[in-house]
Amino acid sequence: MNGQSDLQAAVAETLRRQSNLPGRQCLSVSDGFGSPLGSMSSMAVELAGVTKSYQGKAVVDGLSFKIAPGECFGLLGPNGAGKSTITRMILGMTLPDAGNISVLGMQVPGQARSARARIGVVSQFDNLDMEFTVRENLFVYGRYFRMKAREIEAVVPSLLEFARLETKADTRVADLSGGMKRRLTLARALINDPQILILDEPTTGLDPHARHLIWERLRSLLARGKTILLTTHIMEEAERLCDRLCVLEGGVKIAEGRPFDLIEEQIGCPVIEIYGGNPQELRLLIKPNARRIEISGETLFCYTPDPEQVRAQLRGHRGLRLLERPPNLEDVFLRLTGREMEK
Ligand SMILES: Nc1ncnc2c1ncn2[C@@H]1O[C@H](COP(=O)(O)OP(=O)(O)OP(=O)(O)O)[C@@H](O)[C@H]1O
Ligand SMILES: [Mg+2]
Repeated sequence: MNGQSDLQAAVAETLRRQSNLPGRQCLSVSDGFGSPLGSMSSMAVELAGVTKSYQGKAVVDGLSFKIAPGECFGLLGPNGAGKSTITRMILGMTLPDAGNISVLGMQVPGQARSARARIGVVSQFDNLDMEFTVRENLFVYGRYFRMKAREIEAVVPSLLEFARLETKADTRVADLSGGMKRRLTLARALINDPQILILDEPTTGLDPHARHLIWERLRSLLARGKTILLTTHIMEEAERLCDRLCVLEGGVKIAEGRPFDLIEEQIGCPVIEIYGGNPQELRLLIKPNARRIEISGETLFCYTPDPEQVRAQLRGHRGLRLLERPPNLEDVFLRLTGREMEK
């Protein structure tokens, strides 16, 4: 038994280092930031004027947003927009230079340890212990939250079921597929029944089946009243799951709202994607009937309230492929974050 405890302690330490979770000695980080916004906040998460710079360059710049209890809030933005930095600051793992952060009414970083006890985290890159089994990974993570062995044993079956890993409990993590590892990471984040989940690109790199399975699991968590902060590059994921979104570029908020509202405000008409011709020539041709035209690589995107007219203008042009569709969040993302506007 002692041997096993030693092993678990060693694994917990490895896991702590890998997951970058602060150890006990780091947990009384003093709060040098601003007023006690948290003590007044009924929000699950609230950021006010948060700024972080590296080497003199702001990577998060005066950012404010609020996430209500039970809400799924999405953070979107191109690579390097500052999404992961924001999640780390909410967890108290990266200190902001200015601004206030509160989590369930607790100030971060001052009360980060208490706040973290109520948060489940799926970080951008898997940090499972590859040499240990699925069950052992759940076990050591539970120990990090000071759960007793019998408490962990009591929840492991439901977590395995949640992750659909019942048959893999004694498999080494190194032998799991990428989707299984991601599901295990999500299940592990639930071990202490957190109120808030912070998920940094939880389905990147997964096949469509695995992705749909995780979406379904996340919806079930929302139905149980959990609050989710989700960062993603998968626009379908954001559109399906998020109640509200914040779009970032260069650490600055450039849009915030409900997915449907953002699509209506930013696009608001059908889209025709046109492939197979010379985009510049086609642009001149259809310009009179387009509200906006954008060219991305070999594809021309025509935003038009009158798709029939555009189709009529293109009739007779050989080799063109046209795809007419409703506008979506990807159009919003590309518009806001820099697909070159042509009109
Ligand atoms: N520890 C660090 N030291 C220096 N620069 C950093 C550090 N962490 C992040 N950055 C920089 O901050 C910026 C934001 O990085 P961050 O990881 O938050 O972006 P992101 O939006 O999560 O990007 P991605 O979509 O690629 O995951 C980047 O320019 C990055 O290089
Ligand atoms: Mg990131």
